[in-house]
Amino acid sequence: MGKYHQQQLSRVASIPGVVHYLVICIFVFTVIISTIHWPRDDDKKLAAALGEECNLFEGKWIFDNDSLPLYQEKGCPYMSDQLACEKYGRTDLSYQKWRWQPRHCDLPRFNAMGVLEKLRNKRLVYVGDSLNIGMWVSMVCLVEQVIRPHLKTMTINGSLSSFKAIEYNASIEFYWAPMLVETNADDPANPSAPERTARVQAIEKHAKHWTNSDVLVFDSYLWWLGDKMKVLWGSFGSPDAIVKDVNMPLPYEMALRTWAEWMEVHIDRAKTQTYFVSLSPTHYRAQDWGGTEGQNCYNEIEPIRNVSYWGRYSLVSMMRIVERVISDLQARDLKITLLNITQLSEYRKDGHPSIQRQWEPPLTKEQLDNPISYADCAHWCLPGVPDTWNQIFHTYITRF
Ligand SMILES: *[C@@H]1O[C@H](CO)[C@@H](O)[C@H](O)[C@H]1NC(C)=O
Ligand SMILES: *[C@@H]1O[C@H](CO)[C@@H](O)[C@H](O)[C@H]1NC(C)=O
Ligand SMILES: *[C@@H]1O[C@H](CO)[C@@H](O)[C@H](O)[C@H]1NC(C)=O
Ligand SMILES: *[C@@H]1O[C@H](CO)[C@@H](O)[C@H](O)[C@H]1NC(C)=O
Ligand SMILES: *[C@@H]1O[C@H](CO)[C@@H](O)[C@H](O)[C@H]1NC(C)=O
Repeated sequence: MGKYHQQQLSRVASIPGVVHYLVICIFVFTVIISTIHWPRDDDKKLAAALGEECNLFEGKWIFDNDSLPLYQEKGCPYMSDQLACEKYGRTDLSYQKWRWQPRHCDLPRFNAMGVLEKLRNKRLVYVGDSLNIGMWVSMVCLVEQVIRPHLKTMTINGSLSSFKAIEYNASIEFYWAPMLVETNADDPANPSAPERTARVQAIEKHAKHWTNSDVLVFDSYLWWLGDKMKVLWGSFGSPDAIVKDVNMPLPYEMALRTWAEWMEVHIDRAKTQTYFVSLSPTHYRAQDWGGTEGQNCYNEIEPIRNVSYWGRYSLVSMMRIVERVISDLQARDLKITLLNITQLSEYRKDGHPSIQRQWEPPLTKEQLDNPISYADCAHWCLPGVPDTWNQIFHTYITRF
């Protein structure tokens, strides 16, 4: 070994050597950090996706059987039998393989670790009806795959279901309140009360269960459809209570105002992020998309291609009420992010369970003989459309 090399060797152990060591450490650290966090490319996508110039809710569906589905129906231990279309006999699985492509940017890929990291020591609660159950199950299935079996739990207690990622002390929950305010359909074991009645000025009974959450995701629409709604003043079972039929959409607006007032007073603006999911469309009228009268989503296996398609049961008047209530809250310094999933879901006439789901109570022979009569064209198969809602939602939560 020459003199030169000996000098180099002794230098490594001397003061400049410490610098050298630090440089290596910083390098290794950087490599580790950049592998754990978003790859650069996704960082850029995320920035672009959340910038003013890109509306994530505007775009089209592209068939992509390479990157989808994001999980397997059978592989998710928390799958709901009402959404497990493959298990209940659907053989054409293309509904699992449509990727949402926003017009002006790419949707960042779903990062389960990123979501869990953001939810460390936190509580995310989805509140609402069965459409929000679908979105909650989707989120649980999307993240549970990266957690080992003994490090996750699911508990169901009445209206509240909680998935917990133990190592992260993170919980992803669902609270059943189909109309947000108090109703006679609030018992999840017995939701179909004969005379659906809403106590539009009362929400505390539900709200106390999610007051202290860190992230809240609300939805409520389908249960309000109809010309009139029974509205209750006073409490259920009280002899002084008054019930009146009120024309829609006034009861919806009253309920959302009650919700908004409650939020305004009780939500800790420094702690809680709040989202509202816009109405989830149904596909009960095939003639709306150029199909045959009398048909519905039964046997549909492809999305609608008409970019301006809008179903007639997606009531714009009710959508505007949600937008107004949210913008009034914004004026009072409470920010609610609207997850405007209506249009992108409108295209997916192929995404509903139709007849391929569990039916409780079992179907009658008459029904079985006429599948169109009982096809479910309101909920969504999983994996499927709600995964996209969550993928968009996750671009917001991973940024904060
Ligand atoms: C994926 O889709 C393409 C285009 O429709 C098709 O040609 C190909 O066979 C499909 N691959 C698999 C594995 O299903
Ligand atoms: C665990 O998470 C809950 C929220 O779900 C939080 O209130 C609690 O402080 C967390 N525990 C620790 C030790 O941080
Ligand atoms: C279930 O919920 C009720 C009402 O919030 C609560 O009092 C009870 O402790 C909960 N039970 C369990 C096992 O968590
Ligand atoms: C596309 O959808 C819109 C709104 O639903 C409808 O008015 C129009 O007729 C449809 N166009 C075609 C070509 O089907
Ligand atoms: C939500 O999307 C619908 C249809 O794409 C649009 O009409 C509406 O203005 C949007 N709402 C907001 C608040 O962006």
